[in-house]
Amino acid sequence: MLKTALAREAARLIKSGMIVGLGSGTTIREFVRVLAELDPPDVLLVPTSIDTEMAAIEAGLGDALRPLWAVDRIDIAVDGADEVTQEKVLLKGRGGAMLREKVVDYAAGTLVILVEGRKLVKHIPERNPVPIEVVPWAWRHVARAVEVKYGGTARLRRDSAKLGPVITDNGNFILDWHPASPVNAALEDELKLIPGVVESGIFSKRRDATILVAGEDGRVYAL
Ligand code: A5P
Repeated sequence: MLKTALAREAARLIKSGMIVGLGSGTTIREFVRVLAELDPPDVLLVPTSIDTEMAAIEAGLGDALRPLWAVDRIDIAVDGADEVTQEKVLLKGRGGAMLREKVVDYAAGTLVILVEGRKLVKHIPERNPVPIEVVPWAWRHVARAVEVKYGGTARLRRDSAKLGPVITDNGNFILDWHPASPVNAALEDELKLIPGVVESGIFSKRRDATILVAGEDGRVYAL
């Protein structure tokens, strides 16, 4: 399985004593499972979502978990992504965890991103919307502002398992924005100038990241 190959490769980078930021998503769940097999995984773990926190507890790593405020650094963060360009601009947030992911990923000494080859794209977004986390009270105002200023459509992400909107781990809503054309990296900062925007899924500021890619044959290479 490609996610397992990626997780094993990333686990080789984890050394005893490290404080490790854990991203979110199915690839990171697999990374957590592989990490738990290390003997002993003498590390502290900072999860970026309730989902990852649960995965770590279920894997037996609960004692290593720390909230971000309880550590003074992140040595390495390991995360997934939805789309990655050759220039290492990432699109994230399909799972709604991009705010905490960005805080941890940008703070990390080393950032490692794990993706399957199908996620490599020319421009973002290619197949996914651009997620924008917003203060709930402001959602419609922000959606309109994004559409008027940048075009496309911005829709409130709704929950399929309950009535109403998806609520993030931070108590916010998410807009899924389908722009009319590819976005440029500067938009990461520009979007945040709209009052009510908390964070977006555009990650353009870690061009130094190590991107590990799993090809269809299961071989893992660095972009
Ligand atoms: C979570 O909000 C996302 O940013 C994930 O990192 C991204 O969606 C990758 O998830 P998968 O590993 O499940 O594809």
